[in-house]
Amino acid sequence: MSTAPDASAAGSETPNLDFAGTTPYEDYVQADVLTHLQHPLSDDPGEMVFLVTTQVMELWFTVIVHEWETASRALREDRIPVARDALKRSVRELEALNASWTPLGQLTPAQFNSYRSALGEGSGFQSAMFRRMEFLLGDKSASMLVPHRGAPRVHAELEKALYEPSLYDEVLRLLSRRGLPVPHELLSRDLSQRYEPSPAVEEIWAGIYADPDQNGELVRLGEALTDVGELVWRWRNDHLMATRRAMGSKTGTGGSAGVAWLEKRARKNVFPELWTARSHV
Ligand code: HEM
Repeated sequence: MSTAPDASAAGSETPNLDFAGTTPYEDYVQADVLTHLQHPLSDDPGEMVFLVTTQVMELWFTVIVHEWETASRALREDRIPVARDALKRSVRELEALNASWTPLGQLTPAQFNSYRSALGEGSGFQSAMFRRMEFLLGDKSASMLVPHRGAPRVHAELEKALYEPSLYDEVLRLLSRRGLPVPHELLSRDLSQRYEPSPAVEEIWAGIYADPDQNGELVRLGEALTDVGELVWRWRNDHLMATRRAMGSKTGTGGSAGVAWLEKRARKNVFPELWTARSHV
């Protein structure tokens, strides 16, 4: 049988079929690698979508971390439009991330049980990329490095992120450079600690929002951050709802109290002063 390209399909108006090695698409996308990374742990046909949804979310986490790092760098360089473009891209990506709950949102306990025990102690709690997202939002915690002690590259990346300024630290530094009275102790804080909300920062945001004509650029930045905060909160709540439907109040595979623990996490506000300041505008 001839391996030459089919002449009728290889006319000038059809795509090229003839490549010496792998296709340029494959060289760029590595689809062959990507589509052979699915190794279900049970025989249940429903496990595949659970695994792939988790992998898809990991990829979205990676893109979103990239956008927030871009935004942080741009803020450090006082390039607010570049930061806002990256934040706005991340808002669309967070929407796509959240939409990927759809295939898992209505699992029954019996469906989830069909492969749950095969997951052993595996849990999304051990997602290092999710922690990178949280660290960028200011939710730092050295103990979140502990599960990754056995994976040097992952641990090193997470450790670096722990000691770097978060996206919100960069916002506060920018506000200070703009002459706003951000307290010194916040600007020189221990960056490896969780950011705690400050009444002084709340007052600054309330002042910015009260005068949008004067503060247009900062209001737009504040709104982009608020969109991010809202969508992260939605991810947590969609996750909570999917978990409630799939396993009720059983303990999690990662060893937590399950829904009760996730409820506590879902109550947290991202960029807290951007929410509380609204009561004072
Ligand atoms: C219906 C399917 C799911 C159930 C029942 C579920 C259940 C849970 C539970 C009970 C926890 C608490 C920790 C533990 O004890 O394990 C948890 C944490 C977590 N899960 Fe899921 N999960 C599901 C799907 C997913 C998916 C698809 C992802 C995507 C990566 C994910 C990411 C996470 C993350 C990042 C945490 C840590 C949250 C935090 O630290 O606030 N989960 N999950």
